[in-house]
Amino acid sequence: MDVIQIQDKTFETLITESEILSAIDVVAEKINNELDGKRPLFVCVLNGAFMFAADLMRRVKLECEISFLKVASYEGTSSTGRFKQLIGLNEDVKGRTVVLIEDIVDTGETMVMLKKQLYDMGVADVRMATLLFKPESCRKDVTPDYVGINLPKDFIVGYGLDYNGYGRNLTDIYTLINK
Ligand code: IMP
Ligand code: MG
Repeated sequence: MDVIQIQDKTFETLITESEILSAIDVVAEKINNELDGKRPLFVCVLNGAFMFAADLMRRVKLECEISFLKVASYEGTSSTGRFKQLIGLNEDVKGRTVVLIEDIVDTGETMVMLKKQLYDMGVADVRMATLLFKPESCRKDVTPDYVGINLPKDFIVGYGLDYNGYGRNLTDIYTLINK
């Protein structure tokens, strides 16, 4: 068990890199089976999902495209519930199957807002793939289509996820111990 310090907070190892990659193998296999022949557009939600997207896409064997969009709602260790769209999509998404790639679904606000926006843009089918899901914090009556690992409510960092911008480069995932 590794204990690390990021700014004023202390974290300990929760999920190792090999556990993360095994969970991604399972998600990729499900996507490969379910979306065969659909030519999906994968949309990585920046910043947090960049590592997951890279490891997931290496395992996706479908004919597909990948694009990126950027939204922000977090300040420190909690969601503000307000969104800033910082980078949008350039692709024509009408009639397509879009798979949103998220690092984590926490309150579910981001997932619901992005799904609605994509359906408003004429997408035929929006799916959500998330590495991590906190079912107890999710306020929305929706569940992601593809989930790597379910987690308790606690704040985590690493493997793309940050605390005030730091910790994204950690290869394992760490949980907050001094709250
Ligand atoms: P939402 O509350 O489901 O809308 O989550 C939105 C975003 O908050 C996620 O995509 C993450 O970028 C960020 N987030 C949620 N929980 C955590 C966490 O435990 N650590 C770091 N970022 C988080
Ligand atoms: Mg995110």
